[in-house]
Amino acid sequence: MYYYSNNGCPSVDGRRSVKKKEEALPAEYLVDIEHIFKIYNPGENEVRALDDVSLQIKRGEFVAIVGQSGSGKSTFMNMLGCLDVPTAGSYHLDGQDVSRLSDDELSEIRNKQIGFIFQGFNLIPALTATENVELPLIYRGMGASERHRLAREALERVGLGHRLHHRPGEMSGGQQQRVAIARAIAARPPIILADEPTGNLDSHSGVEVMKIIKELHQEGRTVILITHDDSVARQAQRIVRITDGHIESDTGAGYRWDETAENDPAANC
Ligand SMILES: Nc1ncnc2c1ncn2[C@@H]1O[C@H](COP(=O)(O)OP(=O)(O)OP(=O)(O)O)[C@@H](O)[C@H]1O
Ligand SMILES: [Mg+2]
Repeated sequence: MYYYSNNGCPSVDGRRSVKKKEEALPAEYLVDIEHIFKIYNPGENEVRALDDVSLQIKRGEFVAIVGQSGSGKSTFMNMLGCLDVPTAGSYHLDGQDVSRLSDDELSEIRNKQIGFIFQGFNLIPALTATENVELPLIYRGMGASERHRLAREALERVGLGHRLHHRPGEMSGGQQQRVAIARAIAARPPIILADEPTGNLDSHSGVEVMKIIKELHQEGRTVILITHDDSVARQAQRIVRITDGHIESDTGAGYRWDETAENDPAANC
């Protein structure tokens, strides 16, 4: 069962229990996933939603994870975002093994390390834009004046300085998604994890939101974007394609979409 926590991200209950937290070491990779599996219904009817996936992501990369429906994107996103733990394999996030943590420990990691942007925005309707952006900062124990300052800065950053006190119902879809982006970046987490961020938007708002996400990457943030849409994926610097729970192709960092191969996506992967 899912319920929504302070930073708008769903938490999962019924988790495996705890092992001792490792000392954080200086890590070459921000994300270092080695041979992870996620197996639902082990036994005869088992589903290998992730089937021996390894992936390393350095600081400052902009990676799109693409795949068709049922390929394992959401399952992978849940792992990357520390919303779920793998059946087997390891996940080091900034040097810390997060593949065997308890619910509370995962929640703390999420709050500090990951800014989430969801397809459905996940804003709290009764709160203003500023209050929505401030929520994860409250859970970090930040004082009121610092919180107000960071929330205002983040909302101005996404072009919503004139909508600080509007509630989600008083804003367009594109504006709501920009509030969610402000919430994701306000505390300056090392990773921005976006799950189909343009999925509920009209094409104009989608372009606006992608423009902001690209700028966040250019400013040095690490961005991981999950999508089924190749036209969204190719705006990233690296495309990882997932099929039947495993990585089918990975362009590697520094990838640039070749416009001349526009009609032959396979030529780009
Ligand atoms: N809780 C679950 N129990 C059993 N099987 C599951 C569960 N969640 C997902 N699956 C299966 O795991 C596979 C991957 O599912 P996942 O939701 O990760 O796909 P997806 O790529 O996100 O698809 P979509 O684009 O439709 O959202 C699918 O075959 C799905 O049926
Ligand atoms: Mg999905």
